[in-house]
Amino acid sequence: MLLRSGFYPSPVRPVFPVVFFFSKLETQNSKFKDMSSHTESTSPKVTVPYLQDLKARGQKIVMITAYDYPTARLADEAGCDLILVGDSLANTALGYENTLPVTFDEMLIATKAVNRGAHRAMIVADLPFGTFQLNDEEAVRAAIRFVKEGGAEAVKIEGGRNRYALVKQLVDNGIPVMGHIGLTPQSVLQMGGYKVQGKSLSAARKLLDDALSLETAGVFALVLEVIPTPLGKLLTERVSIPTIGIGAGLHADGQVMVMSDMLGLNFGKSAKFVRQYVDAKTIMSNAIKQYAEDVRNQNYPAAQESYEMPAALAEQIQRNIGVDENEIPYVIYAD
Ligand code: KIV
Repeated sequence: MLLRSGFYPSPVRPVFPVVFFFSKLETQNSKFKDMSSHTESTSPKVTVPYLQDLKARGQKIVMITAYDYPTARLADEAGCDLILVGDSLANTALGYENTLPVTFDEMLIATKAVNRGAHRAMIVADLPFGTFQLNDEEAVRAAIRFVKEGGAEAVKIEGGRNRYALVKQLVDNGIPVMGHIGLTPQSVLQMGGYKVQGKSLSAARKLLDDALSLETAGVFALVLEVIPTPLGKLLTERVSIPTIGIGAGLHADGQVMVMSDMLGLNFGKSAKFVRQYVDAKTIMSNAIKQYAEDVRNQNYPAAQESYEMPAALAEQIQRNIGVDENEIPYVIYAD
Protein backbone atom coordinates (compact mmCIF):
# COMPACT_ATOMS: atom_id res chain seq x y z
CA MET A 1 0.00 0.00 0.00
CA LEU A 2 1.32 3.42 -0.86
CA LEU A 3 0.53 6.00 1.74
CA ARG A 4 0.34 9.58 0.62
CA SER A 5 3.01 11.78 2.07
CA GLY A 6 2.01 13.68 5.15
CA PHE A 7 -0.89 11.32 5.78
CA TYR A 8 0.88 8.71 7.83
CA PRO A 9 -0.65 8.18 11.22
CA SER A 10 2.07 9.16 13.62
CA PRO A 11 2.50 8.36 17.30
CA VAL A 12 3.57 11.98 17.70
CA ARG A 13 0.82 14.40 16.72
CA PRO A 14 2.20 16.95 14.26
CA VAL A 15 2.91 20.26 15.94
CA PHE A 16 0.97 23.34 14.95
CA PRO A 17 3.45 25.20 12.79
CA VAL A 18 4.40 28.66 13.91
CA VAL A 19 3.64 29.94 10.45
CA PHE A 20 -0.03 28.94 10.63
CA PHE A 21 -0.30 30.68 13.96
CA PHE A 22 0.69 33.92 12.23
CA SER A 23 -2.21 33.58 9.84
CA LYS A 24 -4.65 33.33 12.72
CA LEU A 25 -3.43 36.69 13.94
CA GLU A 26 -4.51 38.31 10.69
CA THR A 27 -7.77 40.05 11.36
CA GLN A 28 -9.26 40.98 8.03
CA ASN A 29 -9.17 40.12 4.38
CA SER A 30 -7.47 43.33 3.37
CA LYS A 31 -5.40 43.48 0.21
CA PHE A 32 -2.72 45.32 2.19
CA LYS A 33 0.70 44.11 1.20
CA ASP A 34 4.03 45.26 2.63
CA MET A 35 5.35 46.47 -0.70
CA SER A 36 8.49 47.95 0.86
CA SER A 37 10.08 44.57 1.36
CA HIS A 38 8.12 42.40 -1.06
CA THR A 39 10.23 41.55 -4.08
CA GLU A 40 8.49 42.85 -7.16
CA SER A 41 8.42 40.27 -9.91
CA THR A 42 8.84 41.31 -13.50
CA SER A 43 6.89 38.24 -14.64
CA PRO A 44 3.24 38.85 -15.47
CA LYS A 45 0.46 38.01 -13.03
CA VAL A 46 -0.54 34.39 -13.52
CA THR A 47 -3.94 33.99 -15.14
CA VAL A 48 -5.85 31.16 -16.82
CA PRO A 49 -4.72 32.21 -20.36
CA TYR A 50 -1.13 32.57 -19.13
CA LEU A 51 -1.13 28.94 -17.92
CA GLN A 52 -2.66 27.80 -21.20
CA ASP A 53 0.11 29.65 -23.00
CA LEU A 54 2.78 27.91 -20.88
CA LYS A 55 1.36 24.54 -21.97
CA ALA A 56 1.32 25.64 -25.62
CA ARG A 57 4.97 26.69 -25.38
CA GLY A 58 5.97 23.53 -23.53
CA GLN A 59 7.06 25.47 -20.44
CA LYS A 60 6.55 23.67 -17.15
CA ILE A 61 4.11 25.06 -14.59
CA VAL A 62 5.16 25.25 -10.94
CA MET A 63 2.56 24.78 -8.23
CA ILE A 64 3.12 24.44 -4.48
CA THR A 65 0.88 24.40 -1.44
CA ALA A 66 0.83 27.14 1.18
CA TYR A 67 -1.53 27.80 4.03
CA ASP A 68 -0.32 31.04 5.58
CA TYR A 69 1.18 34.45 4.89
CA PRO A 70 4.93 33.72 5.23
CA THR A 71 4.95 30.54 3.16
CA ALA A 72 2.69 32.11 0.50
CA ARG A 73 5.04 35.05 0.31
CA LEU A 74 8.09 32.80 -0.01
CA ALA A 75 6.39 30.76 -2.74
CA ASP A 76 5.34 33.89 -4.60
CA GLU A 77 8.77 35.49 -4.36
CA ALA A 78 10.37 32.24 -5.52
CA GLY A 79 8.31 32.54 -8.71
CA CYS A 80 5.83 29.69 -8.27
CA ASP A 81 2.98 30.05 -10.77
CA LEU A 82 0.21 28.59 -8.66
CA ILE A 83 -0.28 28.44 -4.92
CA LEU A 84 -2.69 25.79 -3.78
CA VAL A 85 -4.41 26.27 -0.45
CA GLY A 86 -4.81 22.53 -0.33
CA ASP A 87 -7.00 20.63 2.04
CA SER A 88 -3.68 19.00 3.00
CA LEU A 89 -3.78 21.89 5.47
CA ALA A 90 -5.64 19.30 7.54
CA ASN A 91 -2.79 16.86 8.06
CA THR A 92 0.26 19.03 7.39
CA ALA A 93 -0.59 21.99 9.60
CA LEU A 94 -3.62 21.23 11.75
CA GLY A 95 -2.63 17.76 12.94
CA TYR A 96 -5.62 15.84 11.58
CA GLU A 97 -5.00 12.27 10.44
CA ASN A 98 -6.24 12.92 6.89
CA THR A 99 -7.97 15.63 4.86
CA LEU A 100 -11.54 14.71 5.76
CA PRO A 101 -12.00 16.75 8.97
CA VAL A 102 -10.77 20.15 7.75
CA THR A 103 -13.64 22.64 7.64
CA PHE A 104 -14.52 25.35 5.16
CA ASP A 105 -13.87 28.00 7.82
CA GLU A 106 -10.37 26.67 8.48
CA MET A 107 -9.68 26.66 4.74
CA LEU A 108 -11.03 30.20 4.43
CA ILE A 109 -8.69 31.54 7.13
CA ALA A 110 -5.76 29.94 5.32
CA THR A 111 -6.90 31.29 1.94
CA LYS A 112 -7.13 34.83 3.29
CA ALA A 113 -3.62 34.62 4.74
CA VAL A 114 -2.21 33.23 1.48
CA ASN A 115 -3.93 36.00 -0.44
CA ARG A 116 -2.17 38.57 1.70
CA GLY A 117 1.19 36.95 0.97
CA ALA A 118 0.98 36.39 -2.79
CA HIS A 119 0.91 38.91 -5.62
CA ARG A 120 1.87 37.15 -8.82
CA ALA A 121 0.93 33.53 -8.30
CA MET A 122 -2.62 32.40 -8.95
CA ILE A 123 -4.28 31.28 -5.72
CA VAL A 124 -6.32 28.09 -5.90
CA ALA A 125 -8.47 27.08 -2.91
CA ASP A 126 -9.41 23.44 -2.38
CA LEU A 127 -13.09 22.77 -1.75
CA PRO A 128 -12.87 20.60 1.38
CA PHE A 129 -14.74 17.37 1.97
CA GLY A 130 -18.37 18.09 2.78
CA THR A 131 -18.71 21.33 0.85
CA PHE A 132 -19.65 19.90 -2.53
CA GLN A 133 -20.98 16.40 -1.87
CA LEU A 134 -24.45 17.35 -0.63
CA ASN A 135 -25.64 19.59 -3.43
CA ASP A 136 -24.24 21.91 -6.07
CA GLU A 137 -25.85 24.99 -4.54
CA GLU A 138 -23.82 24.62 -1.35
CA ALA A 139 -20.68 24.05 -3.40
CA VAL A 140 -21.25 27.19 -5.47
CA ARG A 141 -21.83 29.18 -2.29
CA ALA A 142 -18.56 27.88 -0.81
CA ALA A 143 -16.65 28.65 -4.02
CA ILE A 144 -18.06 32.18 -4.13
CA ARG A 145 -16.96 32.75 -0.52
CA PHE A 146 -13.44 31.55 -1.36
CA VAL A 147 -13.30 34.10 -4.17
CA LYS A 148 -15.15 36.98 -2.51
CA GLU A 149 -13.84 36.73 1.05
CA GLY A 150 -10.67 34.66 0.68
CA GLY A 151 -9.24 36.24 -2.45
CA ALA A 152 -8.95 32.89 -4.25
CA GLU A 153 -8.70 33.09 -8.02
CA ALA A 154 -9.83 29.52 -8.65
CA VAL A 155 -11.14 26.52 -6.76
CA LYS A 156 -10.06 22.89 -6.97
CA ILE A 157 -12.49 19.99 -6.77
CA GLU A 158 -11.65 16.32 -6.39
CA GLY A 159 -13.52 13.93 -8.67
CA GLY A 160 -14.18 13.06 -12.30
CA ARG A 161 -17.29 12.75 -14.45
CA ASN A 162 -19.49 12.88 -11.36
CA ARG A 163 -18.50 16.55 -10.94
CA TYR A 164 -19.40 17.56 -14.52
CA ALA A 165 -22.56 19.54 -13.66
CA LEU A 166 -20.98 21.32 -10.70
CA VAL A 167 -17.84 22.28 -12.62
CA LYS A 168 -19.96 23.59 -15.49
CA GLN A 169 -22.11 25.66 -13.16
CA LEU A 170 -19.06 27.21 -11.48
CA VAL A 171 -17.34 27.94 -14.78
CA ASP A 172 -20.57 29.41 -16.23
CA ASN A 173 -20.60 31.73 -13.24
CA GLY A 174 -17.05 32.92 -13.85
CA ILE A 175 -15.18 30.84 -11.29
CA PRO A 176 -12.16 29.03 -12.71
CA VAL A 177 -12.05 25.39 -11.62
CA MET A 178 -9.08 23.04 -11.37
CA GLY A 179 -9.96 19.34 -11.57
CA HIS A 180 -8.24 16.61 -9.55
CA ILE A 181 -8.25 12.94 -10.55
CA GLY A 182 -6.24 9.81 -9.83
CA LEU A 183 -5.57 9.48 -6.13
CA THR A 184 -8.21 11.68 -4.56
CA PRO A 185 -7.49 11.73 -0.82
CA GLN A 186 -11.02 12.79 0.09
CA SER A 187 -12.08 9.30 -1.06
CA VAL A 188 -9.52 7.54 1.14
CA LEU A 189 -12.19 5.58 2.98
CA GLN A 190 -13.53 4.21 -0.28
CA MET A 191 -10.08 3.58 -1.79
CA GLY A 192 -8.88 1.81 1.34
CA GLY A 193 -5.62 3.75 1.48
CA TYR A 194 -3.37 5.96 -0.62
CA LYS A 195 -2.59 3.70 -3.56
CA VAL A 196 -1.34 4.19 -7.10
CA GLN A 197 -4.38 4.66 -9.37
CA GLY A 198 -5.05 3.73 -13.02
CA LYS A 199 -3.07 0.51 -12.99
CA SER A 200 -5.45 -1.57 -15.13
CA LEU A 201 -6.84 -0.97 -18.61
CA SER A 202 -10.32 -0.27 -17.25
CA ALA A 203 -9.01 2.04 -14.51
CA ALA A 204 -6.88 3.92 -17.03
CA ARG A 205 -9.85 4.22 -19.41
CA LYS A 206 -11.99 5.57 -16.60
CA LEU A 207 -9.36 8.19 -15.80
CA LEU A 208 -9.26 9.26 -19.45
CA ASP A 209 -13.07 9.54 -19.46
CA ASP A 210 -12.88 11.62 -16.28
CA ALA A 211 -10.23 13.89 -17.75
CA LEU A 212 -12.16 14.46 -20.99
CA SER A 213 -15.40 15.02 -19.15
CA LEU A 214 -13.84 17.63 -16.84
CA GLU A 215 -12.22 19.31 -19.81
CA THR A 216 -15.62 19.54 -21.54
CA ALA A 217 -17.15 20.93 -18.34
CA GLY A 218 -14.56 23.71 -18.50
CA VAL A 219 -11.77 23.06 -15.97
CA PHE A 220 -8.74 25.23 -16.75
CA ALA A 221 -6.22 22.67 -15.41
CA LEU A 222 -6.19 19.16 -14.06
CA VAL A 223 -4.25 17.66 -11.15
CA LEU A 224 -3.13 14.07 -11.78
CA GLU A 225 -2.22 12.42 -8.49
CA VAL A 226 -0.23 9.20 -8.11
CA ILE A 227 -0.68 7.45 -11.44
CA PRO A 228 1.92 5.61 -13.53
CA THR A 229 4.14 7.83 -15.70
CA PRO A 230 2.86 6.46 -19.07
CA LEU A 231 -0.71 7.24 -18.04
CA GLY A 232 0.33 10.75 -16.95
CA LYS A 233 1.85 11.21 -20.41
CA LEU A 234 -1.22 9.90 -22.22
CA LEU A 235 -3.65 12.08 -20.25
CA THR A 236 -1.44 15.13 -20.77
CA GLU A 237 -1.42 14.53 -24.52
CA ARG A 238 -5.15 13.88 -24.75
CA VAL A 239 -6.38 17.05 -23.03
CA SER A 240 -5.82 20.59 -24.25
CA ILE A 241 -5.70 22.06 -20.73
CA PRO A 242 -2.54 21.96 -18.58
CA THR A 243 -2.06 18.90 -16.36
CA ILE A 244 -0.32 19.28 -13.00
CA GLY A 245 1.24 16.10 -11.72
CA ILE A 246 1.97 14.87 -8.22
CA GLY A 247 3.43 11.40 -8.43
CA ALA A 248 2.36 11.29 -12.09
CA GLY A 249 5.78 11.37 -13.75
CA LEU A 250 7.74 13.89 -15.76
CA HIS A 251 5.38 14.40 -18.69
CA ALA A 252 2.67 16.42 -16.94
CA ASP A 253 2.60 20.09 -17.94
CA GLY A 254 3.51 21.07 -14.40
CA GLN A 255 4.18 19.68 -10.94
CA VAL A 256 2.72 20.32 -7.51
CA MET A 257 4.32 19.54 -4.16
CA VAL A 258 3.08 19.84 -0.63
CA MET A 259 5.41 22.46 0.83
CA SER A 260 6.00 20.71 4.15
CA ASP A 261 7.04 17.55 2.25
CA MET A 262 9.71 19.34 0.22
CA LEU A 263 10.93 21.23 3.28
CA GLY A 264 11.16 18.06 5.38
CA LEU A 265 8.63 19.39 7.85
CA ASN A 266 6.41 16.38 8.26
CA PHE A 267 6.31 13.65 10.85
CA GLY A 268 5.51 10.55 8.85
CA LYS A 269 7.21 8.55 6.14
CA SER A 270 7.26 10.42 2.84
CA ALA A 271 5.69 9.05 -0.33
CA LYS A 272 7.95 7.87 -3.15
CA PHE A 273 7.27 10.93 -5.30
CA VAL A 274 8.44 13.43 -2.66
CA ARG A 275 11.79 15.13 -3.14
CA GLN A 276 12.94 16.70 0.12
CA TYR A 277 15.08 19.79 -0.51
CA VAL A 278 15.94 20.70 3.06
CA ASP A 279 15.64 19.22 6.53
CA ALA A 280 13.68 22.09 8.03
CA LYS A 281 12.40 19.93 10.87
CA THR A 282 15.92 19.34 12.19
CA ILE A 283 16.92 22.96 11.62
CA MET A 284 13.87 24.25 13.50
CA SER A 285 14.12 21.67 16.23
CA ASN A 286 17.79 22.50 16.86
CA ALA A 287 17.00 26.21 16.99
CA ILE A 288 14.21 25.67 19.54
CA LYS A 289 16.45 23.42 21.67
CA GLN A 290 19.21 26.03 21.56
CA TYR A 291 16.76 28.73 22.67
CA ALA A 292 15.56 26.59 25.58
CA GLU A 293 19.15 25.94 26.64
CA ASP A 294 20.02 29.65 26.41
CA VAL A 295 17.07 30.60 28.62
CA ARG A 296 17.96 27.96 31.19
CA ASN A 297 21.67 28.92 31.18
CA GLN A 298 20.86 32.65 31.28
CA ASN A 299 22.54 33.16 27.92
CA TYR A 300 19.38 34.82 26.70
CA PRO A 301 18.63 37.70 26.71
CA ALA A 302 22.06 39.31 26.30
CA ALA A 303 22.74 43.05 26.70
CA GLN A 304 22.03 43.76 23.03
CA GLU A 305 18.65 42.07 23.40
CA SER A 306 17.72 44.13 26.47
CA TYR A 307 16.56 47.73 27.08
CA GLU A 308 18.63 50.13 29.20
CA MET A 309 17.75 53.28 31.07
CA PRO A 310 19.89 56.06 32.59
CA ALA A 311 21.60 54.76 35.72
CA ALA A 312 20.39 57.72 37.79
CA LEU A 313 16.77 57.03 36.94
CA ALA A 314 17.22 53.34 37.62
CA GLU A 315 18.65 54.22 41.02
CA GLN A 316 15.80 56.64 41.73
CA ILE A 317 13.28 53.97 40.86
CA GLN A 318 15.09 51.46 43.01
CA ARG A 319 15.03 53.83 45.98
CA ASN A 320 11.46 55.09 45.63
CA ILE A 321 9.48 52.26 44.18
CA GLY A 322 6.76 51.15 46.49
CA VAL A 323 7.15 54.36 48.58
CA ASP A 324 5.14 56.75 46.42
CA GLU A 325 4.74 55.46 42.90
CA ASN A 326 3.07 58.69 41.72
CA GLU A 327 6.38 60.54 41.96
CA ILE A 328 8.09 58.25 39.49
CA PRO A 329 7.82 59.25 35.85
CA TYR A 330 6.70 56.35 33.65
CA VAL A 331 9.03 56.32 30.66
CA ILE A 332 9.57 53.57 28.12
CA TYR A 333 12.93 53.71 26.42
CA ALA A 334 13.20 52.50 22.86
CA ASP A 335 16.70 51.21 23.42
O1 KIV B 1 -4.42 19.28 -0.79
C1 KIV B 1 -3.41 19.15 -1.49
O2 KIV B 1 -2.31 19.48 -1.09
C2 KIV B 1 -3.60 18.63 -2.84
C3 KIV B 1 -2.46 18.48 -3.73
C4 KIV B 1 -1.25 17.92 -3.27
C5 KIV B 1 -2.78 18.22 -5.13
O3 KIV B 1 -4.70 18.36 -3.18
